[in-house]
Amino acid sequence: MELLVDSYGRRIKSMRISITDKCNFRCTYCMPAEGLPWLRKAEILSYEEILRIARVAVKMGVEQIRLTGGEPLVRRDLPDLVHQLHTIDGLRSLSLTTNGILLKQQAKALADGGLTRINVSLDSLIREKFAKLTRRDQIERVLEGLAELEKYPSIHPIKINAVAIRDYSEDEVLDFVRFARHKAYVMRWIEFMPLDADQIWRKEDILTGGEIKTIIEAAYGPLVPITTGDPSETARRYTFSDGIGEVGFINPVSEPFCANCDRIRLTADGQLRTCLFATEETDLRAILRSSDDDEVLAATIRQAVWHKELKHYIGDKRFKRANRSMSMIGG
Ligand code: GTP
Ligand code: 5AD
Ligand code: SF4
Repeated sequence: MELLVDSYGRRIKSMRISITDKCNFRCTYCMPAEGLPWLRKAEILSYEEILRIARVAVKMGVEQIRLTGGEPLVRRDLPDLVHQLHTIDGLRSLSLTTNGILLKQQAKALADGGLTRINVSLDSLIREKFAKLTRRDQIERVLEGLAELEKYPSIHPIKINAVAIRDYSEDEVLDFVRFARHKAYVMRWIEFMPLDADQIWRKEDILTGGEIKTIIEAAYGPLVPITTGDPSETARRYTFSDGIGEVGFINPVSEPFCANCDRIRLTADGQLRTCLFATEETDLRAILRSSDDDEVLAATIRQAVWHKELKHYIGDKRFKRANRSMSMIGG
């Protein structure tokens, strides 16, 4: 099949698939305390439907699939899906983003299923701070999940994602650096984006990657850029002058990376999003459920991708909030 390209010449190589809108955390920067009205079972794509879309996408040049949520590990039999995705010819990377709380039980099955990369969200190493932000007092389980992951070397690297928030994250930057260097985790900070369901996001709450880098460099000296990566990567990556460890800064607000974006997203209810901040979606579920013809599916995806958004406009008068909040999109 013909490769997927948008009208700005960006080739799509990566698909983020949200497999559930449910989550067992209630992070303040993402979900309301009471949760959201969950999708009904009939609205959610079955694993067979997800696999059909994934196969077609890979035929059109998608090389990487990342599974997301809500919290992906709350969906039953996830290792079965992983295993089946893993067998798709042409797929080069199969990864997962999780809050880590169920990893202790599931890490082995996920590794056996063929998952090779896992990113774990962890915004604080301090129990009370973590409990306040996630509204769940469960940091121990996340740390146990991470420890369990380390037993499976086929899953590599293990990355930690911390959303950086002003007056919340500064104090722990160096603790995270020490923790990650010691454990050989890749540590990344993400600028807070206006995708929270409660709409508490304020520009003043953004703590930029540049500011965090300054805190690290004051203690460790100049960081050394890692330039071997793919230009479409979200993170600006660095190592330390002693070569031990890696940190990354995901700076969608202060340094947008839209020009090199190679991503599309599929929501749990089968809507194709061509931008994290999209205000419109393409209904693939309707096509899946009305036609067996993969050419029709492919043509719909191709058409949607052609209209992929140029950029997100955060901080500009033209900015419009996405039509869904983070947990419904999957990051
Ligand atoms: P790697 O492939 O391991 O680098 O993962 P990733 O950074 O692509 O994915 P992850 O799920 O770990 O996401 C980290 C953060 O980057 C989350 O906050 C995502 O919302 C954000 N992110 C991922 N893709 C995009 C994007 O296209 N645009 C913006 N603005 N943010 C993104
Ligand atoms: N801004 C930035 N990152 C966010 N995440 C969730 N909500 C936001 C937000 N408003 C992160 C999670 C997870 C990833 C998928 O997205 O912490 O690491
Ligand atoms: Fe791409 Fe949209 Fe993300 Fe920008 S915000 S990098 S256009 S998906």
